[in-house]
Amino acid sequence: MPETTSLFNKIAKHYDSLNTFFSFGMDKIWRKKLVEQIRGSSLILDIATGTGEVALETVKKLQNSEVIGIDPSGQMLRFAKKKCESIKKITLVQGYAENLPFRNDEFDAITIAFGIRNTVNPLESLREMNRVLKPGGKVAILEFTIPKNKVFAPVYLFYFKKFLPFIGSFFGNKKEYKYLSDSTSEFPQREKFLKILKEAQFMPQESVELMIGTVIIYTGIKK
Ligand SMILES: C[S@@+](CC[C@H](N)C(=O)[O-])C[C@H]1O[C@@H](n2cnc3c(N)ncnc32)[C@H](O)[C@@H]1O
Repeated sequence: MPETTSLFNKIAKHYDSLNTFFSFGMDKIWRKKLVEQIRGSSLILDIATGTGEVALETVKKLQNSEVIGIDPSGQMLRFAKKKCESIKKITLVQGYAENLPFRNDEFDAITIAFGIRNTVNPLESLREMNRVLKPGGKVAILEFTIPKNKVFAPVYLFYFKKFLPFIGSFFGNKKEYKYLSDSTSEFPQREKFLKILKEAQFMPQESVELMIGTVIIYTGIKK
């Protein structure tokens, strides 16, 4: 499967610290907001779990929750394992969103933070999520968006497209950070994404925009 796994293997070492640096520490707040969306859920699948930040936040915030984190990148998972090894409520698995190794109707909720745009086939991934969710289960998707504000959008695009790869170059990852910013502007946003969510048999709920519309949480309920 052609994919971005090798890219994430390369950036895994500095992933957490650069994330915090680029987002001015807001990334942690965004993940908290994502987890709030699945309150009341017990068995949760965190797709594109990366270094395990959403899984950790989930078991911290939701009592009686259990999380399975899945990601194809061995290096990202290596860092996740270090952080989660003493936490029995988190299990980490290597695998792809497009081919989830789980039974139908298994999970109460699914989270995916900054991961859907990295999958090879977002529609196929959402269909898989729908398959493994219980009927009435919820998917919560955190992603970057281009702000609608006409004054702020060019400033944001400059920051995202020029500044990120520039800083990434100091860590030998200019190409990788360029991909991460390009993939954001190329990915279907807002109404276009909601259409894909519907196509995957979800009932979209109201989206939540954060940070002047630079970050969004889409949610959908399995029909
Ligand atoms: C930007 S990171 C996000 C990590 C984490 N969710 C967070 O909040 O920091 C994107 C993750 O998506 C994973 N990924 C890439 N392709 C994927 C696929 N086809 N299925 C599932 N995860 C994938 C990468 O390995 C990487 O860990």
